[in-house]
Amino acid sequence: MQQTFAIIKPHAVKSKFSGKIIDMIEAAGFEIVEMKKITMNQAQAQALYAEHEGKPFYNGLVSIMTASPLIVLKLQKNEAVALWRELMGATNPANAAQGTIRALYGNSLDENAVHGSDSPASAARELAIFF
Ligand code: CDP
Ligand code: MG
Repeated sequence: MQQTFAIIKPHAVKSKFSGKIIDMIEAAGFEIVEMKKITMNQAQAQALYAEHEGKPFYNGLVSIMTASPLIVLKLQKNEAVALWRELMGATNPANAAQGTIRALYGNSLDENAVHGSDSPASAARELAIFF
């Protein structure tokens, strides 16, 4: 069994899509090991997105992710990291495969509904920030 880190992003929470997204997570066979609704603080956002520091979208990303409540989840399944990325869809909802969460509930690059770790090492690092 592998664990990964997921976020239902602020705009999706505000739009009342949390239940629909959690439904998709469970239907895909993930176990929700832990889950909580929080407002992310500046230090958490900066730690989460450290790899993007200095990029043009970084400041906007940190402010969007700290502006209002979101839901963080610890998910478990065989191949959880890759399978969660697959269920999320491509970073830009415009390019996300039909039926993926980002295709269904994303609006744009900065409002793309969900976050998912990109490797088992990232998952361990990101989970430790929030759980
Ligand atoms: O989230 P994911 O791992 O698919 O993408 P990323 O490249 O790690 O970027 C992190 C987040 O930054 C994305 O989910 C987007 O919300 C945001 N982003 C953005 O606003 N503009 C970009 N040009 C690239 C990413
Ligand atoms: Mg990423």
